[in-house]
Amino acid sequence: MNVIVTKDYAEMSSAAAKIVSELIKNKPDCVLGLATGSTPEGMYAQLVQECKEGSLDFSAVRSVNLDEYYPIKPDNDQSYRYFMNDKLFNHVNIDKANTNVPNGMTENPEEEGARYDKIIANLGGIDLQILGIGQNGHIGFNEPDEELVSGTHLVDLTEDTIQVNSRFFASIDEVPKQALTMGIGSIFTARSIIIMASGKNKHDAISKLLSGKITTQCPATMLNLHPDVTVICDEGAYNG
Ligand code: PGA
Repeated sequence: MNVIVTKDYAEMSSAAAKIVSELIKNKPDCVLGLATGSTPEGMYAQLVQECKEGSLDFSAVRSVNLDEYYPIKPDNDQSYRYFMNDKLFNHVNIDKANTNVPNGMTENPEEEGARYDKIIANLGGIDLQILGIGQNGHIGFNEPDEELVSGTHLVDLTEDTIQVNSRFFASIDEVPKQALTMGIGSIFTARSIIIMASGKNKHDAISKLLSGKITTQCPATMLNLHPDVTVICDEGAYNG
C-alpha cells in the first residue's frame, strides 16, 4: 500500500486530483469509480477547475458511483445522484449517459444490485476507484459486520453512520435507514484504488487500515488484500 501524508485537506485534495487528472489524460475513456461525502469535494472542485481551464476533457470518461441512499429520488438534494451532478457532472463536459449511480428508487434492490454489477462488468471493470472512509471504517456503505457482501447490495445503515450523516439533513429522522452499495468484490474490480481521509476523526479508521490486519469489523482493512491501493491522508488523519 502506498501512503501519502499531506499537510492538510487542500493538499490531500490536490494529490488525489492529480492522480485522477493524469489518468484521464492517459486514458480519455477511463472508468472512474466515484465517491460522495465531504472528503472528495475539494478534489472534485479541482477537477472542475482544470476542465474549465481547458486542460482536462471528460467527454469520453465513464463513471460508476459507489452507493446511493435507499429509498431516495434522484432529484432529492440529499441523493448521491444530486451530489454528483452538483459537485462534478454539471460543471464538466462529461456525458451524463455515461455516469452511473445505483437506482435509489428501485422496487427490487436485489435485481438492482445484479444490474449494477453487470454495468461494472460491461465497462470492463473500474480503472480507478476513489474511496472515502467512515469513522467506523466503512467503505462505500459496507458497514462493520461479521460478514461482508461481495456484490452490490442493500444494506441497513448503522446507528453511528446515520448519526454522522445527519449533519447533511434537517433532522436525524430524515436520514434514510438503508442504502444500496457496491460490495467489496465490486470495489475490487478496480485496477487501482485511492482512499482519502482528512481530520482527526478518521485517525482510528486509518490506523486500523495501516496496521495491515484484516477484519470485517473495519471493512477498509480489506484493502490490504488489493495490489494497488494509495492512501492519501492529511496529518490529522495520520497522526490523530
Ligand atoms: P465523509 O464520508 O467524506 O463525509 O467523511 C466518508 C464516508 O463515510 O465514507
